[in-house]
Amino acid sequence: MNELNVSYDTSIPNNVGLADDRRVLKALEKWHPGYLDWWKTMGPEGFQESMVYLRTAVSVDPKGWAQFGYVKMPEYRWGVLLAPQEEGRTIPFGNHMGEPVWQEIPGEYRAMLRRLVVIQGDTEPASVEQQRHLGATAPSLYDMRNLFQVNVEEARHLWAMVYLLQKYFGSDGREESAELLRRRSGDVDKPRMLGAFNEATPDWLSFFMFTYFTDRDGKMQLESLAQSGFDPLSRTCRFMLTEEAHHMFVGESGISRVVQRTCEAMKEAGITDPYDIEAIRKLGVIDLPTVQKKANLHYTLSLDLFGSEISTNAANAFNAGLKGRYQETKIDDDHRLLDATYPVMKLIDGKPTLVNEPALTAINMRLRDDYSADAAKGVQRWNKVISKAGVDFELTLPHTAFHRHIGEFANINVTPDGELVDNESFSRQRDRWLPSVEDGEYIASLMKGCMEPGKYANWISPPKVAIDNLPGDFEFVQIAA
Ligand SMILES: [Fe+2]
Ligand SMILES: [Fe+2]
Repeated sequence: MNELNVSYDTSIPNNVGLADDRRVLKALEKWHPGYLDWWKTMGPEGFQESMVYLRTAVSVDPKGWAQFGYVKMPEYRWGVLLAPQEEGRTIPFGNHMGEPVWQEIPGEYRAMLRRLVVIQGDTEPASVEQQRHLGATAPSLYDMRNLFQVNVEEARHLWAMVYLLQKYFGSDGREESAELLRRRSGDVDKPRMLGAFNEATPDWLSFFMFTYFTDRDGKMQLESLAQSGFDPLSRTCRFMLTEEAHHMFVGESGISRVVQRTCEAMKEAGITDPYDIEAIRKLGVIDLPTVQKKANLHYTLSLDLFGSEISTNAANAFNAGLKGRYQETKIDDDHRLLDATYPVMKLIDGKPTLVNEPALTAINMRLRDDYSADAAKGVQRWNKVISKAGVDFELTLPHTAFHRHIGEFANINVTPDGELVDNESFSRQRDRWLPSVEDGEYIASLMKGCMEPGKYANWISPPKVAIDNLPGDFEFVQIAA
């Protein structure tokens, strides 16, 4: 079998030889109807019968793995796809460094690995649930398609994690797979496992921020799991990363188009003060200070996903060779971190200060730093759009201690500039830094579906190029009556 190509000889497209793996095939076939129920009840609302121009993975060949075509979402071919096995791959870090990678799970690491797979798996359906109401208010058919593309791929990522659970974790794996379909984003009794995945995604600016900031957390987690000594996990994550790139593109280009439209509208109306919010909102576009507040919110919620700065769980997973660092193989050190230190931001005498800590327990902090550096690049590109338009405004990422609920800064109040303030002062100024009720209402007032091919809502610019070499007025979604 050519392991690059997907085979369709079972009901589940795959490149893992499912046809010859009866036990796992049966388990997945048993899980499938519950999955489809979940998709139909918790997936995109109102468009399940529409024809959507989607890409489907038909191979894992980096040179060309996707095929575009119209499909009804419930009929999307969700599959199990692993990047090709690398001949002679060895464990790149931790206590087992240099040993051949594992094709089966070492008994002593089973529980730790299960937890890593379940946590990753839980985020995938969560984001589909969070975004399920957005179809009706899409600013264009192009954007609607992008939303649905992200949704079907997040759902495929659920398949990716469920395959690992069913194949390697026996009855616990079956139970966990069922639980992944039972939890619900934002549910009081059965919430999703991580905070940011229980927040609402009420509007399209939130969606773009989510795909830019929160999917990027996903990228960092997948990157570090792609280093894993457990080879099937590594290979799964490597292929997921190729899909993930599009999700972040949707976010980055989405915000870029929002910012561009605002600047254009200001120019046309002769408004030079970006803080003249009343006048700018009269133009039906989103003022830049509100874009900043949304970025503050989604960036900080995403920082919380990295967990505590100092973490023995993270150190254990690293020592075990299960979860590495971002671009582990490119880092120039011993990959065991026996005596190494890493600067960790801590609260010292009321000031966020960098303190050297053992690098092993600071793995989360390092990944978060890598994330912040990665996230800052897009912000720079948005600022170029603003300065090119001649508007005097700069978007920034807030201080990492601002608006945190996990880790070192969970119980203090810090301004976006990193200055410690008391409760009362924070509450008084909160609405200057984070979206207010009024901001939310204003954005909500703009969210009206724009469903004619080639038309775009007034608050967002058309994309420079669409997808799959198609023109912007292509009918990306054929909406069922
Ligand atoms: Fe994902
Ligand atoms: Fe994603």
